[in-house]
Amino acid sequence: MPSPSQRPTTKAVIPVAGMGTRFLPATKAVPKELLPVVDRPALQYIVEEAARAGLPEVLMVTGRNKAAIEDFFDRAPELEAALEKKGDQSRLDAVHAATDVAQVHFVRQGEARGLGHAVLQAAAFVGDEAFAVLLGDDIIDARDHLLEEMLAVQAEHGGAVVALLDVGRENISKYGAVAVHGEGSTVRVTGLVEKPPADEAPSSLAIIGRYVLPPEVFAALRVTEPGAGGEIQLTDALVRLVQDGVPVHGVVFSGRRYDTGDRLDYLKAVIQLAVEREDLGPALRPWLQQFVADLPAQGASPA
Ligand code: UTP
Repeated sequence: MPSPSQRPTTKAVIPVAGMGTRFLPATKAVPKELLPVVDRPALQYIVEEAARAGLPEVLMVTGRNKAAIEDFFDRAPELEAALEKKGDQSRLDAVHAATDVAQVHFVRQGEARGLGHAVLQAAAFVGDEAFAVLLGDDIIDARDHLLEEMLAVQAEHGGAVVALLDVGRENISKYGAVAVHGEGSTVRVTGLVEKPPADEAPSSLAIIGRYVLPPEVFAALRVTEPGAGGEIQLTDALVRLVQDGVPVHGVVFSGRRYDTGDRLDYLKAVIQLAVEREDLGPALRPWLQQFVADLPAQGASPA
């Protein structure tokens, strides 16, 4: 029988219990993870990504005010019957796609005490296996294969793997920053710090919303005190793993990523993904070109 670390990773954890304050007031009643990116909730892209990477078992860590997420991944018999009656097969397929993509389970995080605390709620579901964490508001373009690469690195080296993006010194204080050893697309992580001031950051490489973690992370999270922002930080538990000699690697990402929890990035995601869609792109592109051509030069006020 293979040891736990040799078993292929099959489970994904998607934390969606955050308060989404950057998107208020929209997120007062609608979870930010359900805001539509073109015509699908951000979260659907993420569940599809997990399924594509071979992780059919998905656990969402939800919270109060997030019941709509459970409804979205549940069957909708009345809606399906109405579409069937109308013979609207393509919309029926779209509705089915949301529920058929993966086996989705739910657990609640009673209080939004931080990403680390959210991940800790997955301990019973995960058991003694490595697992992936995909943040519920962070979309990786379907043409990029970040998670697959990370799973391959974890299968080779064991331990933990984080996704890294060079966000520049000017942005690093919004992220977990890492010190690394080595060059190229896979590096060894030697240190981590959550939301450091720019001049104290070990590099401009930021952790973005994908992780592959060993089950040892739960023991580390249980003894992790609240850190930056008074929250229990996953980054701080990873610091503990590094100190304990657990290998932590980073996969440096250079593809397309959209942080849909951020208003500007959300707008970019909607535009970019819509422009590339076969059904919407042909009409949107010329309109957008005209719109941009008509924009007043920067600094000038509109007529
Ligand atoms: P964020 O920090 O982006 O989420 O966490 P947030 O706190 O909801 O956002 P703002 O800053 O207030 O706008 C990244 C992911 O972790 C989840 C969030 O739902 C998001 O998908 N999260 C965060 C939890 O599940 N629980 C928490 O306690 C915090």
